[in-house]
Amino acid sequence: MKFFVKTFGCQMNEHDSEIIAGVMASAGYQQAEDIGGADIVIVNTCCIRESAENKIWGFIGNLKNLKDHKPGMILAVVGCMMQQNTIGEMLHRRGRHLDIVLGTYQQHRLPEYVSRILAGEKQIVDISEDNRDFPDSLPTMRVNDLSAQVNIMYGCNNFCSYCIVPYVRGRERSRDFGAILAEVRELAAAGVREVMLLGQNVNSYGKDLRRATPDADVPDFAAVLRAVSEIEGIERIRYMSSHPRDFSAELADVIATLPKVRAYCHLPLQSGSDRVLRAMNRGYDTAAYYAILERIRRHTPDVVITTDLIVGFPGETGEEFAETLDFVAKCRFDAAYTFLYSPRSGTPAARMDGQIAEREKKERLARLTAVQNAVSLDINRGYIGRTVDVLVEGPSKNNPDLMTGRTPGNKIVICRGDMGMVGQTLPLTITEAKTWHLEAL
Ligand code: 5AD
Ligand code: SF4
Repeated sequence: MKFFVKTFGCQMNEHDSEIIAGVMASAGYQQAEDIGGADIVIVNTCCIRESAENKIWGFIGNLKNLKDHKPGMILAVVGCMMQQNTIGEMLHRRGRHLDIVLGTYQQHRLPEYVSRILAGEKQIVDISEDNRDFPDSLPTMRVNDLSAQVNIMYGCNNFCSYCIVPYVRGRERSRDFGAILAEVRELAAAGVREVMLLGQNVNSYGKDLRRATPDADVPDFAAVLRAVSEIEGIERIRYMSSHPRDFSAELADVIATLPKVRAYCHLPLQSGSDRVLRAMNRGYDTAAYYAILERIRRHTPDVVITTDLIVGFPGETGEEFAETLDFVAKCRFDAAYTFLYSPRSGTPAARMDGQIAEREKKERLARLTAVQNAVSLDINRGYIGRTVDVLVEGPSKNNPDLMTGRTPGNKIVICRGDMGMVGQTLPLTITEAKTWHLEAL
């Protein structure tokens, strides 16, 4: 039997899908090339914003037609959206045709549940939060040969007031240090050049282990970075996401000593207003945030820094939004991922007064994007004439006659070449700069 995984959402979800595919493949199922060729369709869901959820319910609804035309097809829906407290009612309304529903803690059990459906059981729902026997290493079917994602943490303890992640992914759990290193070594041996260390809040690595075993010498995030840096064959190390509250000056100093790590940093700011940051429960103000940027840039002046921003948080006034515009201009991010605030059921912000109209949010988003795009373009123009190391990844999506690669700071570079260059790191001179990419033509 063949399976197909459709993924919505973040990098964490993309990697979860690689694990789901790995687990299914080791249970003897084969991967289908497209959804039409699959006997088992698995949808990995995201609930971070309402727009994602609406899209996914639409997708799941359409699968009903596919299933009607293909009796015996198994439909499994897994991940964050299924772990929400409102899911029971939603399944009743829109998910009666689903065979298997799994939350974020039970995805590795999918083959077991597929067997039970094949044996004649009706809809199985397992959204239990018991993950005591969650394995430290699971088979993984990776999408990319050069760049791999590696989990180091699960869950989040931060409870930012807008965010649903702590409710659907649970408390912070650090993965075993040895298991992380073993996985990266294996990847390096298989030819992988870049690893992305994943967690909702990677800076917290080890805190839970230290609480559990106060006497043991438990490594922290800096120790993970140091150890992964020593693994031969891995040229670039990224991490996602880090939290400014936990990004200490010491960590910035350690990173500065690690050439494989220091070129890139994603540091979500969320808002440039101190009042809004407090209401978001972020645990830092703009001065503290700026101090980290200065610390990072003092050591590594051409570091690439990206961020996340939310516009239209409840009660955000016009002046507070203007503070965000000013602060974003001052920070000079290379790029920003910008989002309209989306109320999530069960989070404190969804119950706050001063919810902002969709139209106003969209207007603010457009103004913010304009400010950021101007900065991005200005920074990218500074690369023209410079020679940078480009790790060539493959043909460009927009023009298959050209190749695409990335700088150490993760900027996309369009260049000439052929498939023989894939996997090589080449010094290329930048000839042109756009808002979202560089060119070496
Ligand atoms: N509305 C809008 N954006 C959100 N994010 C998280 N929760 C919400 C929400 N309710 C954004 C944050 C986070 C990124 C992954 O998604 O900016 O950093
Ligand atoms: Fe959500 Fe905040 Fe945790 Fe990030 S740090 S996952 S925004 S609660």
